[in-house]
Amino acid sequence: MKTDDVDLSIPMLPDMELTATTVAESLGAFIGLEATKIDEVKMALIEACINAFEHSRSHERRIDLSFKISDKALTITISDGGDGFNMDDALRRIEEKRDKGEKRGWGLTLIAELMDEVDIASSPSGTLVKMSKYR
Ligand SMILES: Nc1ncnc2c1ncn2[C@@H]1O[C@H](COP(=O)(O)OP(=O)(O)O)[C@@H](O)[C@H]1O
Ligand SMILES: [Mg+2]
Repeated sequence: MKTDDVDLSIPMLPDMELTATTVAESLGAFIGLEATKIDEVKMALIEACINAFEHSRSHERRIDLSFKISDKALTITISDGGDGFNMDDALRRIEEKRDKGEKRGWGLTLIAELMDEVDIASSPSGTLVKMSKYR
């Protein structure tokens, strides 16, 4: 781990994702990320944490986060230790939710729009969302 990286483990409890956003805020400010970009990172991070809370079916009910900074970007990984999901199935369910007019099914889309790079790796041992915002 580099000296200025942050590792954080949070329980899946209401509003706990806000704890994670404070880390994003201070590290973002530290590398000189402008305020609007920091807000975008916070929104994406909240969506990723809420997805872990709502959908992961993690037994430990915890999320492991890592925050890494470089002179170019802030990179956050969110790991839920749940049982994973299939992206094609998820995209189909997203369509259904939108068709029913439910105000659901926008989290993954928002994350992709708000961040510069997103990589989602999901397996039966959990989902790992890795996302970066460039300076
Ligand atoms: N961390 C996760 N673990 C398991 N499934 C997930 C996770 N994140 C997303 N998903 C799946 O992707 C779907 C779409 O997520 P999202 O776009 O945030 O919409 P919503 O959360 O409103 O359903 C979810 O309904 C779920 O099936
Ligand atoms: Mg969601």
